[in-house]
Amino acid sequence: MDMSDSSRQVLIVGNWKMNHTQAEVKQFFQELHDFKRQDIKGRAWIAPQFIHLSLVQQLGALAFKIGAQNCSHENHGAYTGDVSPQALKEMNVDFVIVGHSERRAFFKENDRIINSKLHRALENKLKVILCVGETLDQRQSGKTLDVLQDQLREGLKGVSADQWGEIILAYEPVWAIGTGQTATPEQAQEVHLALRMFLEKELHAPAQQILILYGGSVKPSNIAELLEQPDIDGALVGGASLKASDYKTLCQVAFLS
Ligand code: PGA
Repeated sequence: MDMSDSSRQVLIVGNWKMNHTQAEVKQFFQELHDFKRQDIKGRAWIAPQFIHLSLVQQLGALAFKIGAQNCSHENHGAYTGDVSPQALKEMNVDFVIVGHSERRAFFKENDRIINSKLHRALENKLKVILCVGETLDQRQSGKTLDVLQDQLREGLKGVSADQWGEIILAYEPVWAIGTGQTATPEQAQEVHLALRMFLEKELHAPAQQILILYGGSVKPSNIAELLEQPDIDGALVGGASLKASDYKTLCQVAFLS
């Protein structure tokens, strides 16, 4: 995003993954006590474990948008251990992350199931963050864009014209997640631009309006240079979103500078 453009809508999304006890969640918001009064409404998002959604909602009231890290591909039924997008909506969850590389790798989620989850979430009026990303092998063998385009084509299949406004993309190179090895701002920008062009040309989506977040070892020391890139509209942050002081710095750089 152009940092000089005051109308820009940068998002900072904290993906807490399977971390934080109740006590740690409380501590996190205690540390952000002053901060949440500031003008971050709608732009600082947090996705805790399902079990902490109510607590986060209660503690982060008004300032933060709350999301789930996953949802079922169905609204109800015999899917032991799954969580219904309809039930998430009922408890006023704002968004759901689908297609995270950890879901793809550890839970064998393929593009077809990810696409079903996306549709169930959209039908329930949840915003969706669809994650895409290539592995190191795929990058080194020159397949990055092919892989990402396949993930987009399949993951976004059947999205109707009136649904694009509810969709956010996250480009998360698998080799950069939790490794400390961030994509350079230039590497990320190159991919973001290519994804935007693909959205427009191949998927006939309103690409300029779709937010594309970068994820993969984003931290206070590298967020500014990433956000300076014209096609990076925010960040999906794992590790650095767990510590209140880091999350606060990320938001300050993104919203207040
Ligand atoms: P990381 O995770 O910031 O810890 O690399 C990002 C993510 O997986 O969303």
